[in-house]
Amino acid sequence: MKSVETQKTASKSLSGENSITGSISNTTSSTNTISGSSAKVFPVGPIIHVSIPFRDHIQVEFTGKTPDPVHWTIKACSSCLNLLNLLQQKNPDPRTWALPVGNSHSHLLIRELILKSHGDWQPPYTADEICHCRGVPTEKVICAIKSGAHTTNEVSRVTQASTSCGTCRSDVQNLLDYFLK
Ligand code: FES
Repeated sequence: MKSVETQKTASKSLSGENSITGSISNTTSSTNTISGSSAKVFPVGPIIHVSIPFRDHIQVEFTGKTPDPVHWTIKACSSCLNLLNLLQQKNPDPRTWALPVGNSHSHLLIRELILKSHGDWQPPYTADEICHCRGVPTEKVICAIKSGAHTTNEVSRVTQASTSCGTCRSDVQNLLDYFLK
C-alpha cells in the first residue's frame, strides 16, 4: 500500500501559538506514514486562507505540483491543529473533507476553509460596515462570532453592534445563522 508522508516543520512562537508550514505529498516512504490515502488527485486551486486576526491563521495552497501539491501555512492553537490533523489523516486534500460538526472556533475556521475551497463561501452580509449607528465593521462582528459570541446579545456586548436603533440586528442574526449552521 502506498503511503502519504507528512512533511512539516513546527515551532512554538512567543505567544504560545503553533506555527507550521509544509506540505503533504504522495511518497512511498515508510516513515511518518498515514495509510489509506494513496492515489489522491490534487488539482490546482486557489490559495485559501481563513483566520481570526491575531489568533489563528490557516492558509492552504493547491499547487498541483509534485512533491508539494497541497501546501499549508498554519499559525494556530492546538485545538485547530488537532482538528486539522484528524481530517488530514483521512485525506490530505481539504476539498474532500466533510464539513465538521461543531461551533468551536476551530470548527468554524475549518468549515470556512472547506467551503472556500469549493467556492461556496457566501456570507449573507458583505458590506464593510454592518452597524452604522456605532460604526462597527462587518469583519469585527464576524471575528466576534468566530471567537465565541454566538447570540446577538453577545455580539452586541463584544462589538457594540445593534446597541442603538437596532436595525442592523437582523443582519447580525443572519451572519450568526450562516456561521453557526
Ligand atoms: S445600525 Fe446598528 S444599531 Fe443602528
